[in-house]
Amino acid sequence: MTYQNILSELKGQVLYVTINRERKLNALNKETLKELAEVVAGVQQNENVRAVLLTGAGEKAFVAGADISEFKDFGVEEGEELARTGQASVFDAIEKSAKPFLAAINGFALGGGLELAMACHIRIASENAKLGLPEVTLGLIPGYGGTQRLTQLVGKGKAIEMILSAEMISAVQAEKIGLVNHVVPQSQLLGKAEDLLAQIIQRAPLAISSAIRAINAALDQNGFEIEITEFGRCFGTDDFNEGTAAFLEKRKPAFSGK
Ligand code: COA
Repeated sequence: MTYQNILSELKGQVLYVTINRERKLNALNKETLKELAEVVAGVQQNENVRAVLLTGAGEKAFVAGADISEFKDFGVEEGEELARTGQASVFDAIEKSAKPFLAAINGFALGGGLELAMACHIRIASENAKLGLPEVTLGLIPGYGGTQRLTQLVGKGKAIEMILSAEMISAVQAEKIGLVNHVVPQSQLLGKAEDLLAQIIQRAPLAISSAIRAINAALDQNGFEIEITEFGRCFGTDDFNEGTAAFLEKRKPAFSGK
């Protein structure tokens, strides 16, 4: 299967999936999300695939977020729908995948990019990676599960600081707070990911699937629904219009709080 925005190649029993919009720092536009949803669904059907290694093209970004240019004119309902569809078809689908996904974070993992990495079962970052949820700079909140998964991974205190400040953190800081499992030099990123996946795919496949289901069950909550509603609500604010316009016009936003 060939895609416009994604490279996918089976090597041994590991499917290498690369988000391939390097010029836009691999930002997730609608087409990319659609293709990603197909890849994730296909993984479950393909018995030759035992695990997935997910990364971004180039050396600068894993994924720099959802594509801001696409949703700048959205209203409340469209915003809510954006979050709901994306969560179900990509982010939740990855988290619930019967086969493990490993995110090899090769650079910026921001907004939807960090949310994508957090939906994966394991995260390894290169030393140059920068991670953050900067949505509040756009008058938004994370909409692809970020408020829930970051809190689950690093605890409420750190999650609130990261989301409210919109600060990016380094790979080393991310490892310290449990947001990534390992940090390695960029040249060793794929090697480290491959070693870990080689170990995992030696294990019993059905037990791996059961373990994923059981671990996910420990974290079940309804916060995702609240996030979807709040995300949609942001689209009805002037601050959202100002935040996205300022990004696209390459200037600082002037928020009115309306
Ligand atoms: N959506 C749409 N386009 C994006 C994008 C996004 N999330 N992130 C980067 N891009 C585009 C830029 O607009 C730019 O396009 P252009 O060359 O056509 O102008 C290109 O990718 C390169 O990005 P640029 O901003 O020039 O690179 P930089 O090195 O100066 O800055 C970042 C890198 C990651 C700090 C900056 O791109 C950024 O802040 N991105 C948005 C992050 C974000 O808010 N994500 C959450 C979205 S919900």
